[in-house]
Amino acid sequence: MVTTETGASGRRSSHWFGAHGRSGMLYRSWMRNQGFSEEVFDGRPVVGIAVSGSELAPCNAHLSRLAESVKRGVWQAGGFPLEFPVMALGETVLRPTAMFYRNLLAMEAEELMRANPLDGVVLLSGCDKTTPGLLMAAGSVDLPAMMLTGGPMLNGKYRGQDIGSGTHVWKFEEELRAGRMSEADCAFAESCMSRSNGHCMTMGTASTMACMAEALGIQPPYGATWPAVDARRYAAAQRTGQRIVAMVEEDVRPSTIMTRHAFENAIRVNAAIGGSTNAVIHLLAIAGRLGVPLSLDDFDGLARDIPTLLDLMPSGRFLMEDFCYAGGLPAVLAELGDALHTDAPTVTGEPIGAAIEAGRAEYHDRTVIRPREDPFQPAGSGTAVLRGNLAPNGAVLKQSAASPHLMRHRGRARVFDSPEEYYAVADDPELDVDADTVLVLRNCGPAGYPGMPEVSNVALPTRLLNEGVTDMVRVCDGRMSGTAYGTVVLHTAPEAAVGGPLALVRDGDEITLDVAARALTLEVDDAELERRRAAWTPPAPHSERGWSRVYFDHVLQADQGADLDILTGASGHAVPRESH
Ligand code: FES
Ligand code: MG
Repeated sequence: MVTTETGASGRRSSHWFGAHGRSGMLYRSWMRNQGFSEEVFDGRPVVGIAVSGSELAPCNAHLSRLAESVKRGVWQAGGFPLEFPVMALGETVLRPTAMFYRNLLAMEAEELMRANPLDGVVLLSGCDKTTPGLLMAAGSVDLPAMMLTGGPMLNGKYRGQDIGSGTHVWKFEEELRAGRMSEADCAFAESCMSRSNGHCMTMGTASTMACMAEALGIQPPYGATWPAVDARRYAAAQRTGQRIVAMVEEDVRPSTIMTRHAFENAIRVNAAIGGSTNAVIHLLAIAGRLGVPLSLDDFDGLARDIPTLLDLMPSGRFLMEDFCYAGGLPAVLAELGDALHTDAPTVTGEPIGAAIEAGRAEYHDRTVIRPREDPFQPAGSGTAVLRGNLAPNGAVLKQSAASPHLMRHRGRARVFDSPEEYYAVADDPELDVDADTVLVLRNCGPAGYPGMPEVSNVALPTRLLNEGVTDMVRVCDGRMSGTAYGTVVLHTAPEAAVGGPLALVRDGDEITLDVAARALTLEVDDAELERRRAAWTPPAPHSERGWSRVYFDHVLQADQGADLDILTGASGHAVPRESH
């Protein structure tokens, strides 16, 4: 039997559960060992709940509980919910980096959604890579889908002070190295930082991508901001379960929600929230699955007139819990108003501007969500896309996390081929660097590391820290944690490992950064660069087998979202062959 788009009841799942004879018996009977009564096979919408959680992914460890609330809503609306696990990527523990596995999660989730008897899916995510990974998968399958992220942790609280996950790790490390904090202080701080279920509560990558999902219209309003432990998140999960059943009936698919207009909204919202640079890579990758034209330059061009409204760490003072109580993302959307495509559709069935027009978006604290006319940071402080002979295919810099005095800078390069090489000498009092040195760190790109880790914001050399230097220009082909800060040129493309110009830089070369001109220049003439290029040899693959080999052979550069070339685009949800 060839499985076509829809079955006897008009639903995809009825090709399995509505089948007659031996096949139908095989599909139904084994499912019934879970105690389902036969009505669940009557042609009602079958909703998969993709749970990207495990005890090895602490930010997502509570997602199976959230799934219970989704199921309640699916049952309530007359659907049949089935929870299934997908790769749980724990940002803090996975080596060489969780990013190395984002595409594998996307591939796994795509295949599971397609291969199973599902009519729609609810995507439960949280930690950094799980949100983009699941949206990439949903884009390639294009079954009706809704996302609900797991929510941020409660604010960290340390000796009367709010502390942010990630952000304060970098700060405490500096305090420790400068002798202003003891090991005991740090151990205590460690216990004060992560106090509840949930993902990082700074405006890091997880919070950013949760907001991106909401701005794209694929996550319901307030889904990004309710703390993980807030009862309203569980109520929202129940409503999500109800709504996905209706979405199956209405055949609302990711491709009808995540359009070019939705991505333009997301890019503007990212500027307004002071979001992570990782959103650039992830949104490019998601768009690539949906066939939506999106380029690196859109992130600079579309957001130049958008000020940063949120005063959140890492750039500001507050945390996600404060953002939630101040009004959440709908309040930011309301503040952006006509800068958005307010008619962009969302999973609620209403356009994204509906809540604004109905006056449902309320502000409760204008110190956290600042008005557009009195923003936290002026327009043009978002992501700058740099180009030049050092980054022919672009590099990015988060202006709000950088130091004003370094935005135009020329200095001598000190080159490191790996973070390990740098950290081996970072404490050396004789290290040949000064405050004007440009630290170049390479071989940290998608293919190089592999997996493009968040290592670009290397801690400053100890000697300079002790001299009171607080920032230096750093240039890297890797990424930076969304919770981090500094004048760091990121995502330099092409990366060193594939022969990008970063591979050709030598100690003492002069590098000019001019953010206003969007320029990153290696002050070495073309003839000399050609000589160096001729002497360059590409690195060998990290492994001859397994995922590492597939990844190395197929990964795209940062300016293309670092997806695999064999995974871009969509295959839809049709399955051509029977299994029995
Ligand atoms: Fe999981 Fe930050 S480490 S969200
Ligand atoms: Mg991160």
